Amino acid sequence: MKEEGFTVTPWKVEGEVDYTRLVNEFGTQLIDEELLARIKRFAGRLHPLLKLGYFFSHRDLDWILDMYEKGERFYLYTGRGPSGNVHLGHILPWVFTKYLQDSFNVNLIFQITDDEKFLYTDGRNMDEISRYAYENILDIIAVGFKPEKSKIIVDTKHINHLYPIAIEIAKKLTFSTVRATFGFTSSTNIGMILFPAIQAAPCFLPSKIEGKPTPCLIPAAIDQDPYWRITRDVAEKLGYYKPAQIHSKFLPGLGMQGKMSSSQPETAIFTTDEPEVAEKKVMNAFTGGQPTIALQRRLGADAYRCPVFWYLRYMFEDEKSSDERYVKCRSGSLLCYECKYALADAVKRYLKEFQIKREHARDMVDRFMFD
Ligand code: TRP
Repeated sequence: MKEEGFTVTPWKVEGEVDYTRLVNEFGTQLIDEELLARIKRFAGRLHPLLKLGYFFSHRDLDWILDMYEKGERFYLYTGRGPSGNVHLGHILPWVFTKYLQDSFNVNLIFQITDDEKFLYTDGRNMDEISRYAYENILDIIAVGFKPEKSKIIVDTKHINHLYPIAIEIAKKLTFSTVRATFGFTSSTNIGMILFPAIQAAPCFLPSKIEGKPTPCLIPAAIDQDPYWRITRDVAEKLGYYKPAQIHSKFLPGLGMQGKMSSSQPETAIFTTDEPEVAEKKVMNAFTGGQPTIALQRRLGADAYRCPVFWYLRYMFEDEKSSDERYVKCRSGSLLCYECKYALADAVKRYLKEFQIKREHARDMVDRFMFD
């Protein structure tokens, strides 16, 4: 979708996103208090990313809970396009997916769309993409999914499991639908034109595995919603349930605007960054601060527009400390360097721990792979 001031498509997110408008345009539902209370009842606790509204929108999540209540287990499905290294903006929804897996004790399918990234990106050969796929898988495993309940599918390796489902889907989708949904043109390569059916296929894989229609819940950033829209349109015609979704916002980059992006490495913290390099990025981050200390003391700063604030809030601080930080920031009693130090410390600690888990993950790759 291209709106005045911002763009959100599965391949590009730019500008300052108006999430309420996005929900209206996409026709998804906001997660309201009632749904939050229900999730809490089933899951035992509300994940901070839900409480803070980072996961903010859904399709049929209430239905997933109805089914769960009746004893029907759903599968989780999420994915990663291996176009580069993983940064904290990618990790966040995965951490949330792990919370869902642990709370509901359900299976997870994790798709690696190496085909998509090969087809979409100019100038990246398949060797490079395969290397990223392997590296990204280490990150996924390091997040801590249950090995006995999680399977990773690499499109080019496990296509035999997806292809029969993908062609069922492809047969029901016209070129004019995918062209309109994804903005394809007559110069789009034909691999990309089929690809939506490949990303849709894992939604129905649980039904194949279980041998009966099986609910599927997809945690993903909201830019992926076009895929699920077209999948939902064909699901029932093919004898499956419509896949349900829970959508996140985007983690801002450390620069002025837009989501954290691998194409602007200085504004993204990669899981493979040396902790000291990450620290420097944080210290150079854009903030919501005033040009001078005197002005900041007088006017306060703009926490709402400050990536440092949001990182701390989403990843590292509890709600109460974050609320206090907000108040102090707005009143001018807190200066930007103090927040930067707090974030730099937290990021360094996080990366050190994560990188150890990431090394351990090397021995676990085979266990996680789809057979
Ligand atoms: N297309 C996604 C990307 O570029 C990868 C992906 C595949 C995905 N299947 C998914 C993301 C399911 C979320 C949920 O990153």
